[in-house]
Amino acid sequence: MAMRPIALSILLVLSMSVFCASSSELILSDQCPASFEKTAQGTCQLRTLYDFYDSPADHGGLRARLPQVTRNYTPQQIDLGRYLFFDPVLSAKQDMACASCHQPSKGLADGRARALGARQPDGRRTELPRGAPALWNVAFLQRLMWDGSAADLASQAQRPLFAPQEMGNTAQHLETSLNQIPEYRALFEQAFGRPPSVETVTEALAAFQSSLVSFNSRYDRYVHGDTEAINAQEVRGYNIFRGFVARCSQCHVPPLFTDSELAVIGAPNAADGAFDAGAGSTSKDPNLLGAFRVPTLRNITRSAPYFHAGQFKTLGEVVHFYNDTRGHAAPKDAPLKLHWQIHMTRGPQLSLEEEHDIVAFLNTLEDELMLPAIPAAVPSGLPVTTDLNPESL
Ligand code: HEC
Ligand code: HEC
Repeated sequence: MAMRPIALSILLVLSMSVFCASSSELILSDQCPASFEKTAQGTCQLRTLYDFYDSPADHGGLRARLPQVTRNYTPQQIDLGRYLFFDPVLSAKQDMACASCHQPSKGLADGRARALGARQPDGRRTELPRGAPALWNVAFLQRLMWDGSAADLASQAQRPLFAPQEMGNTAQHLETSLNQIPEYRALFEQAFGRPPSVETVTEALAAFQSSLVSFNSRYDRYVHGDTEAINAQEVRGYNIFRGFVARCSQCHVPPLFTDSELAVIGAPNAADGAFDAGAGSTSKDPNLLGAFRVPTLRNITRSAPYFHAGQFKTLGEVVHFYNDTRGHAAPKDAPLKLHWQIHMTRGPQLSLEEEHDIVAFLNTLEDELMLPAIPAAVPSGLPVTTDLNPESL
């Protein structure tokens, strides 16, 4: 029998009351996310088949171990981080969440060449100088941000939180607004045994982001012995990717598909013509002028456009850059010291077919099994924002 409208609305009220009822009712998960094992200390440790391999992470072979993460977190800390990540209460004007720029439906990026930041007085949003990177496997990276200028997830989080062009908050305002919400006080108590503070907020965000892992792609199945998991063209593409002509895997080292190093590869300027000095903007070392942290290529099909300011729309364009203008797309007047893997007298001179094969291979790195569940509601009661695109505002 179909449910009567009145019964339906009672159900709705009941399910909405989770956040309105007394603060003790919302219980954070005590289960580790899939692929994570609960340790004796109650923290969640990632388990993958890569744990069975002996060769060190920087070896670059097919079967290499993953680097150690610096820290594991409890299920409660991870779950609290998820609420915070989606809650616009973290921004000064309460209109922007981490997930506004790192959207689950857009590969944890935002689909834009450059991210949109805080509203200006005329109501429009500021366009930031760089694009929002995807967040897959960020817990393993030695350097964060396009220019590698942040060392770890907790300190990175303070950047968007307190940058006036982004979430525009202050430490004091952030702490006051969270402490005013009884649900959050209870949740921080469950996760940390301490009230909301900049430290516990950024720790929880780091905990949540450490659960954004992707090691279950068709490529991984191939590595672990399922030879049918990737097709003949994709195998060809992988062999070109790691071969000595294209040299992609020298920097995009498997299994993370990055070595976390800074490299100067002579990318073209952003669409507005501005030159971005990358790591050179915070260092006087001439070798770092125009250097960017090597990004992962995991789930790369999901986060177009590519490069620090979305200079390339498709993976085909990126691969063509490496094959054709590799290193030479950079502005002529910038004295860049190109990475030796890029600076070659002759480019790789791959055929168009080989370029296509590399793109086909990059498709095998797709695995979004661990995309986080978007909370139906957040403790602040604010709408769960996941999009800042002008047309949706
Ligand atoms: C207004 C859009 C925006 C918001 C809001 C935002 N980010 Fe980002 N995020 C970016 C951009 C742009 C970058 C790259 C900045 C750079 O490299 O200069 C970035 C970089 C990152 C990185 C580094 C990733 C890497 O591969 O190095 C992490 C981690 C991150 N953000 C997490 C967060 C968290 C956590 C929040 C919420 C506290 C947040 N972001 C809020 C746009 C945003
Ligand atoms: C010398 C190190 C190096 C080599 C070799 C290299 N890359 Fe990169 N790659 C980088 C760096 C650094 C960036 C970021 C550049 C930027 O944003 O300006 C990048 C960016 C990318 C991106 C875009 C990632 C994103 O999130 O936007 C793709 C795709 C890519 N590389 C694929 C390849 C392929 C395919 C090859 C081989 C043909 C290759 N790379 C060779 C260092 C390297």
